[in-house]
Amino acid sequence: MSSPSPRIGIVVTDAYSAEDPDHDTPVLLAALQARGVAAESVVWHDPTIDLAAFDLLVIRSPWDYPERPREFLDWLDRAETATHVVNTPATVRWNLDKRYLGELEHGGIRVVPTVYAETTDAAARAIATHDAPGARLVVKPAMSAGARDTGLFAASDPRALELAERIIGGGGVAMIQPEIAELSEGHEKALYVIGGTFTHAIAKGALLEAGGGLRGGVYAENPVLVEASPAERRFGEEVLRAVAAASAEETPLYARIDIVDSAAFGRCVLEVELIEPALNLHIAPHATPAVVDAILGAISHESASGADR
Ligand SMILES: Nc1ncnc2c1ncn2[C@@H]1O[C@H](COP(=O)(O)OP(=O)(O)O)[C@@H](O)[C@H]1O
Ligand SMILES: [Mg+2]
Repeated sequence: MSSPSPRIGIVVTDAYSAEDPDHDTPVLLAALQARGVAAESVVWHDPTIDLAAFDLLVIRSPWDYPERPREFLDWLDRAETATHVVNTPATVRWNLDKRYLGELEHGGIRVVPTVYAETTDAAARAIATHDAPGARLVVKPAMSAGARDTGLFAASDPRALELAERIIGGGGVAMIQPEIAELSEGHEKALYVIGGTFTHAIAKGALLEAGGGLRGGVYAENPVLVEASPAERRFGEEVLRAVAAASAEETPLYARIDIVDSAAFGRCVLEVELIEPALNLHIAPHATPAVVDAILGAISHESASGADR
């Protein structure tokens, strides 16, 4: 049985870059504590932490997991055995490999056109298809976050295949996509759905420098709060229905659906982030109560199912 005052762990890591801090955890800790809940941050790879001491672990910003994926999967297994975790570990595992985008596409959702290359030959063939004059392509790993190992190149640039080889050589799968011009112009839009309800949308600036690497050499999203049109919100709902069909996750605690309106390909999904989306509560404070309610809802759901056992 849960204790009368539930103990919540907000799962973070211990190092963030100055350009990409976790703005959300301090806001959430304060808001949970203001509701009388014992909440604290938990560094996911800290071996001294007793995961079973928590009634709920909320995965928030373990943003270094792509650098140590095996360890993260082991942590997920341990956390799942020890206590209740949101989003559910099954959903997190499903969302870790961007080949889920292929499943969404089968479910009728338009996604950024992608070839998933498991061999260097397959990568070379995919890269060669982007050789129209002036065309560029993006190479990135199927498991990533924060634009790690993500590059924008001309098809003739040997660095495109070098990056794909590096990803595949490290045991990964390389994704090859056409450049979406609107992404390079800074028109990526993130739709947030908290506990099944749309709360806010942000626009992100362009991130990739042509020829490889990041603009300005660092990862900085420069989020801006924007409106989402009714049609965009409906698209977000459709995407989440397809996620539910593919992953069996009915209502994630939080979901961020990254979309772009492409002149060449239409409105499409770039990714659905169900693991550790920055929520940008510092620029969308109205969304904080929804997140807190969803967390408290997850606790009471757990207490109820615990009482049934
Ligand atoms: N096909 C593409 N065309 C242009 N820019 C892209 C493309 N794919 C990714 N990017 C840029 O790279 C960033 C990171 O890629 P993304 O697919 O979102 O992976 P991550 O999981 O690392 O966030 C995006 O936010 C976008 O700015
Ligand atoms: Mg992204």
